[in-house]
Amino acid sequence: MAQQARVLLLFDSRGGLTEQLAQAVADGVQSVSGVELRYRRLSEANQKELLGIDALILGSPNWSGMTGKLKEWLDYSGDLWETGDLAGKVGACFTAGWSRSGGTEATLLQLMHLLLAHGMIFVGLPWSDTMRRSGSYYGATAHGEVTDDDRAQARALGRRVAEATLLLGLFASGAAADGS
Ligand SMILES: Cc1cc2nc3c(=O)[nH]c(=O)nc-3n(C[C@H](O)[C@H](O)[C@H](O)COP(=O)(O)O)c2cc1C
Repeated sequence: MAQQARVLLLFDSRGGLTEQLAQAVADGVQSVSGVELRYRRLSEANQKELLGIDALILGSPNWSGMTGKLKEWLDYSGDLWETGDLAGKVGACFTAGWSRSGGTEATLLQLMHLLLAHGMIFVGLPWSDTMRRSGSYYGATAHGEVTDDDRAQARALGRRVAEATLLLGLFASGAAADGS
């Protein structure tokens, strides 16, 4: 792993709700030293940035699944599945939708599927009592508005991704030193 662990936070957002969650995730990532955050709206993201990252956090509005634009961007991001460039890297996800029972977890599962398909190590929300009110086991969420609880959960997710990325980097460099 590079000296600074590189976390790419890539998200789509039309109305700004998902972006509010993204900002809280970003706060969490940046609360951990030794991590470089690349914060990218889909419209300004470059597919080459998927190479050489240590973690990928995907965010999408809940449009009965991820948005078509995000799916298409990822579908045409190169032969990453073939090359294994994302394998062993940390992955996480978040979504914002309108309705609490409008398929939030289905959207997170779609994002999780994509990350796991690349052989990434998936990180969900850390357990906390706040889970009774906000978030999902699979990632950070918001419905109609971003509440303080939603923000706290999104920050916790970002922090956990950063910490897991650093830990995995240590593990990987230790393994390399052993020649294993
Ligand atoms: C095409 C489309 C499909 C949507 N499907 C859902 C849905 O299945 N469930 C839901 O809760 N909200 C749904 N919504 C509402 C969006 O998730 C909601 O507007 C959300 O805030 C979008 O995030 P954004 O503000 O970051 O763009 C849909 C909106 C659109 C435009």
